[in-house]
Amino acid sequence: MVQRIGLVGCGVISDIYLTNAALFRDIAFTACADARPEAARARAETYGITALTLDDLYASPEVDIVLNLTNPEAHAAVSMQALESGKHVYTEKPLATRLEDGRAIVELAAAKGLRVGSAPDTILGIGLQTARRMIDDGTVGTPISGVATIMSRGMEHWHPAPAYYFQPGGGPVLDMGPYYIGALVALLGPVAKVTASGRIGLDERVVTAAGPNVGQRIRPEVPTTIHALLEFQSGTRIALLASWDVWKHGHTPIEIHGGTASLRVPDPNFFGGTVEIARDRDHWEATPTTGNFYGVPNYPAAKPIHANYRGLGLADMAAAIEAGRPHRANSDWAFHILDVMLAILRSAESERAVVVDSRCERPAALSVAEADALLAQAPDAMRSRA
Ligand SMILES: NC(=O)c1ccc[n+]([C@@H]2O[C@H](COP(=O)([O-])OP(=O)(O)OC[C@H]3O[C@@H](n4cnc5c(N)ncnc54)[C@H](O)[C@@H]3O)[C@@H](O)[C@H]2O)c1
Repeated sequence: MVQRIGLVGCGVISDIYLTNAALFRDIAFTACADARPEAARARAETYGITALTLDDLYASPEVDIVLNLTNPEAHAAVSMQALESGKHVYTEKPLATRLEDGRAIVELAAAKGLRVGSAPDTILGIGLQTARRMIDDGTVGTPISGVATIMSRGMEHWHPAPAYYFQPGGGPVLDMGPYYIGALVALLGPVAKVTASGRIGLDERVVTAAGPNVGQRIRPEVPTTIHALLEFQSGTRIALLASWDVWKHGHTPIEIHGGTASLRVPDPNFFGGTVEIARDRDHWEATPTTGNFYGVPNYPAAKPIHANYRGLGLADMAAAIEAGRPHRANSDWAFHILDVMLAILRSAESERAVVVDSRCERPAALSVAEADALLAQAPDAMRSRA
């Protein structure tokens, strides 16, 4: 049975979810709502769904899963309200911005027998899944160390309403950390301890993105540069460098160095990319993923350069509900990511190592056949619609 999706939060990211919905067999958007009714009306008009008030959406018998695409500070309240209303939830990252809120979501869902899924579903993309196979099949050997870098000049240059990125709940670790830490946990298992250091790089940011806020001056309330050492339960050590105070750099997104090879993992913000492996000191062997449906660039729509199949994790959750199996982008994994991110922030603030208590299983691998089976039609037939 197709799961009917009610969208809450009709901002920037809702567009790609609504665009991609037609790719997947097991989901259909029926309704949308937003604290700004005009935003809901605009999305409803474009995508042929019904704009509702928030109360009506939570109460709607036409909604099985609430897709929570609100701002991070609102994630917990929206997810809790959806669960209280008897709906499954799939939320944009992070699961919540406070650990106790994340725990409350997990516990309420368990008590009610409802599912909670969470972005980033890029861990299910062909790029990260290809890298994972090279770890799981022993090509890399035992992962020993690595580096992950989240570095850019920040968000005020492209997002029309970027203030939330610099308020509590924002910053590069809580905003982009889910991609990188989520990918690392999916590849290497849970984190046991973190040590971090951070600072606010610039006292003031000026919005240059076109729109109503151009020229707005924002004073960051959270560190915009944080460097952390992650000690995984397995023993692997990863240095995570996260900053929105960087003009340009030469680092790759993630490198993992194992006993028998070094691995370059493509950008975990997207679904495709090129995986590189070095089995000696001289050569990188490249495995591009564009031959796979989920590796074909489809974003931005006008001039595609990235594979952006957001919604894949939601489609996997919908299929899992029908099949009665666990879903992959799940709340245990999302809660652990939140725990690690908050531990990094606490460590930077206290200038001490912080032990991470939570654990999660690595989400199950998603084979090419399993990923293709989530599509509405065979991959070749879908290519023209991607
Ligand atoms: N913009 C991106 O490229 C991007 C990419 C990946 C993930 N995300 C994540 O997606 C989420 C949304 O980001 P965005 O960029 O679309 O933000 P946005 O500000 O463009 O949109 C958020 C929308 O949520 C609405 N909203 C806020 N609180 C609400 C509430 N309590 N109830 C109902 N509606 C509420 C706002 O009115 C707004 O329309 C964030 O969690 C962000 O981390 C964004």
